[in-house]
Amino acid sequence: MDKRVRILFSAVFVVALVGLLAAACAQEEPAPAALGGKALSEERCTVCHDLTRVHNAQKSAEEWKQTVERMVGKGAKLNQDEQAAVIEYLTEAYPK
Ligand code: HEC
Repeated sequence: MDKRVRILFSAVFVVALVGLLAAACAQEEPAPAALGGKALSEERCTVCHDLTRVHNAQKSAEEWKQTVERMVGKGAKLNQDEQAAVIEYLTEAYPK
């Protein structure tokens, strides 16, 4: 094969590979809400009790906010952003 043709093929191959890698990485990138309220509640709200209490509850956004703040007062480990995500998830999943 002509040397220039081989170089051209290699270049095309490298460009294609970089493109594939970029596409793969873009998919791996978690969405902002990936560690969303669901994952957080399953991880942080099961330290003292299981989620049965949560599954049985039906609360408005304000009531979930108060509940989550009460749980944080008891020792639930959630920062402000995480509390907001959990409250949002619980309000959607267990509405009144
Ligand atoms: C540090 C321990 C602890 C953690 C962590 C915890 N809880 Fe609780 N939770 C309790 C205790 C103790 C009770 C029972 C007494 C009470 O209701 O105040 C309770 C009761 C509840 C109840 C039933 C009472 C009600 O208000 O409906 C719900 C719902 C609840 N927890 C949700 C959660 C959620 C959601 C999280 C995560 C954000 C969480 N808990 C994390 C200790 C905890």
